[in-house]
Amino acid sequence: MTVRVRKAVFPVAGLGTRFLPATKVVAKEMLPIVDRPLIQYAVDEAIEAGCDTLIFVTNRYKHAVADYFDKAYELEHKLEAAGKTELLELVRHVVPANVRTIFVTQPEALGLGHAVLCARPVVGDEPFAVILPDDLLWNKQGRGALGQMVDHVASHGGSAIAVENVSADKTGSYGIVDVEHFDDRAGKIRSIVEKPKPEEAPSTLAVVGRYVLDAAIFDCLDKTRPGAGGEIQLTDGIARLMGESVVNAYRFAGRRFDCGSHLGFVEATVRFALENEKLRDSAAAVMQAALDDLRAGAR
Ligand code: G1P
Repeated sequence: MTVRVRKAVFPVAGLGTRFLPATKVVAKEMLPIVDRPLIQYAVDEAIEAGCDTLIFVTNRYKHAVADYFDKAYELEHKLEAAGKTELLELVRHVVPANVRTIFVTQPEALGLGHAVLCARPVVGDEPFAVILPDDLLWNKQGRGALGQMVDHVASHGGSAIAVENVSADKTGSYGIVDVEHFDDRAGKIRSIVEKPKPEEAPSTLAVVGRYVLDAAIFDCLDKTRPGAGGEIQLTDGIARLMGESVVNAYRFAGRRFDCGSHLGFVEATVRFALENEKLRDSAAAVMQAALDDLRAGAR
């Protein structure tokens, strides 16, 4: 069975309250990790996985993501006139020429499930990906997480949801799955619950922000009523989908930085600075100096 996942949905309507006051003005998806905004990492992962249609679900106040993918005539003209060809290339090719970007408005903040449902008229009747840009996934050794999941769906069918193990006290921050025949990489989801208390969690396998979903999810979301936090949860739509078709959990190779939290954001910045050839040595030196100061009790 061959499935081509061409479309990726990026829910980007959130207020980013955890990064206030910065997010008073800057969309959280535009916060940079070293030199690239979070949304660029997410989009690159989708493109590497084979997607050529990127659908952003935004709100009527947030224009930054659309502006980022739009043509910047004046800037390009100035860079060209100044002969800054390297920068010009960077600005021109935030996505390759064959990739389309489409913007959909979520009229009311009714939850992640509702945001995904807003993309229905553009996705239509084909399997598609959902990427939450807060979760920055990085696989140094090879294919990105979404690409791994697309490959898994191509060979096993059904839908796939990225998971990783979390400590028992963290279950209240995630969708949590119970999986059967888990071979340490993938297995069929038996149950899924949004943000359960540790004593009620079916396991410690947490949903990470990557999904490859059958289009039947839209009918499921349409029937889903508000759940945890009074919001229409994607997790509840997925629970309904499991009654109709197989949904697998997929433990991706690579690591996750939770860039929706301060610590995860700092961790990603440190890692990507050390991965950057031009920065590596000097970044390591300033980190070392900061640690030395900390140990010496210096201010
Ligand atoms: C969302 C999902 C949750 C998932 C998490 C991953 O929650 O509802 O199931 O585990 O993303 O990042 P949020 O972090 O938006 O509250």
